[in-house]
Amino acid sequence: MDYLSLSRAARLAGVTRAELQRRIRRGEIATFEGSVAVVDLLRIFPSVSLSDDAALERVERIKADAQPRLPTEETALPNPQVLVSRLRGLSETLVDRISALGAADRLLQRVGDRLEKLVAEPPGELAESVRETRDWFLDAYRQLGAQPLSDQRAQLFAKDTFLRIMAANVKLIPSGHDFFVEGSESILEASVRAGLRLGYGCSSGNCGDCKARVLSGETWKIRDHDYVISEREKAMGYILTCSQTAVTDLVMEAAEATTVEDLPQQRIRASLRKLERLSPDLIALNVQTPRTQTLRFMAGQRVGLRLEAGATCELSIASCPCNGRNLWFYVRREDDDFAAAVFGDFRPGQLITVTGPKGAFVLQEDSPEPTVFIAFGDGIAPIKSLIEHAVSIDLIESFHLYWDTRYPEGHHQGQWGRALRDALDNFSFTPLASGQPSDVLAVVCADHPNLAGLRFYLAGPPSPLRGAVTILREHGVDEDLMTIEETAT
Ligand code: FES
Repeated sequence: MDYLSLSRAARLAGVTRAELQRRIRRGEIATFEGSVAVVDLLRIFPSVSLSDDAALERVERIKADAQPRLPTEETALPNPQVLVSRLRGLSETLVDRISALGAADRLLQRVGDRLEKLVAEPPGELAESVRETRDWFLDAYRQLGAQPLSDQRAQLFAKDTFLRIMAANVKLIPSGHDFFVEGSESILEASVRAGLRLGYGCSSGNCGDCKARVLSGETWKIRDHDYVISEREKAMGYILTCSQTAVTDLVMEAAEATTVEDLPQQRIRASLRKLERLSPDLIALNVQTPRTQTLRFMAGQRVGLRLEAGATCELSIASCPCNGRNLWFYVRREDDDFAAAVFGDFRPGQLITVTGPKGAFVLQEDSPEPTVFIAFGDGIAPIKSLIEHAVSIDLIESFHLYWDTRYPEGHHQGQWGRALRDALDNFSFTPLASGQPSDVLAVVCADHPNLAGLRFYLAGPPSPLRGAVTILREHGVDEDLMTIEETAT
C-alpha cells in the first residue's frame, strides 16, 4: 500500500476531500495520477488513529442499519454491530503485530550489518568484538520489548484494512472521479449518493442504460435482471451497475453526464408524499417518484409540475440530485391555478406529473475556488439544491451562503443552514433581511475584501438580482464567474 485514491486518503486522514485538495493546490502534498503517497499523507496528518474518527463512526452507523441478507441459521451473518466491534479488535491486534514485526525486522538488519563488520576483523581482535556485539544485541533486544508497539504506518495500514472491509472504492475512467460503495447498496446507488451522474434508466435491471465495464476488481450480483448481457460483453467485463455491488475496489469505465444536454428529458408520474405549511403563504411540497423512475437532473435545475386537475407550474427543485426520488419544492401563494390547488385541498398520495429537467443554473464542478451563494427571497430553492450537491461531491474549497429575505416567515431554511455551518468547517451562513442588494453586497465585501478569484451563484427575483450583478461587475467580478437564476418570487 504505497498510494491511495483521494477519497480513501481523505477518509483515512479524517478530513474532507476538499481539504485534501486545498493542500494539494498549495503544494503541501503531491499527487501521482490522482493518488496520494502514504508517506506524504503521514507527513501532513501524522496522527492517523484507529479510534476517535468521524469517518469510521459514519461507516459503523451505516453498517448498523444494514440487515443480514441470508436467511438460514448456518449462513446468517453476525449482527453488523458485533461484526464491526470484532473487526475493530482484530485491527488493533494487527497494528501491534505489524509494529512488532517491523521493529524486529529493523533489529535483524542491524545484526546483519554488525556481523558483516565482524567478518572483516583481524583474528586477534575477533573475540573482543564478538563479546561487544553480544552485549549490544542483548541491550537492543531488551529495548525492543520496552518500546510502545504501534507505529504510524501500521496504524494507517490497519485502518485502511478496516475501511476496505466496510466500503469498496470505485474509480471511474476516464473522469478519474471516485466514490465509496457502502453496505449492500448497488454501484449505481452509491454513485448517485456521491453526486455523480452515471447513465441509467429504470434502476431495476430492465433497460440496460446503466451498463458499464469493470476493468479491475470484483463485483457481486445483488438482484436478478431481465436485461441480457451477451457472453461476449460479460467476457469483456460489462455489468449493470444497478444490479451489482462492489466486493473489492474497482476501476470502471463508464460515461458520465457532464452538461445539462447530456441528461434525457423525462416525464414521470409521481405523487405527493408530504406537504408542509411553512407560513400562511408558503408551502413545501415533497414529491416522490416511483421506485423504478428516479428523476435525473443537475442541482439547481427546474421541472414542470402538472396536477391531475390540469393546473401547471414550473419550479426550481430545492433538493439534491443525490436523492432523485424525493424532490422538494416551495410554492408561494400566488394568483394562479396551481397555487390555488396546492393551498386548497391538495393531499398526500395525489398524483403530480413531473417533466424536465430544465435550465442551466448548475454547479461548475471543475471550479473548486472559494464560492459565494447569494439567494434573494425564494431564490433559496435552487441555491439550496446547489449547496446540497456541493456538500455531496465535496470538491469546493470553501463556500458562503448569504440569504436575504423580507417575507414574513423569515429564513424558513435557517435551521438547515445553521446545521450545515456547524457540521462543515468550510461552510458559512449569513441570514439577512435587508431587501436591498447594496446592503447584501456590503456584507459580502466586508467578509471577502478581495472579490476577484471568488465564484458567485445568485438566484432570486429580477430586481434585487440585477442590482447585485451590477454591483459585482463594478467590483471587477468577471461575467464568467457569475451564474445567475431568475425566480418569480
Ligand atoms: S438502470 Fe436500467 S438496467 Fe440498470
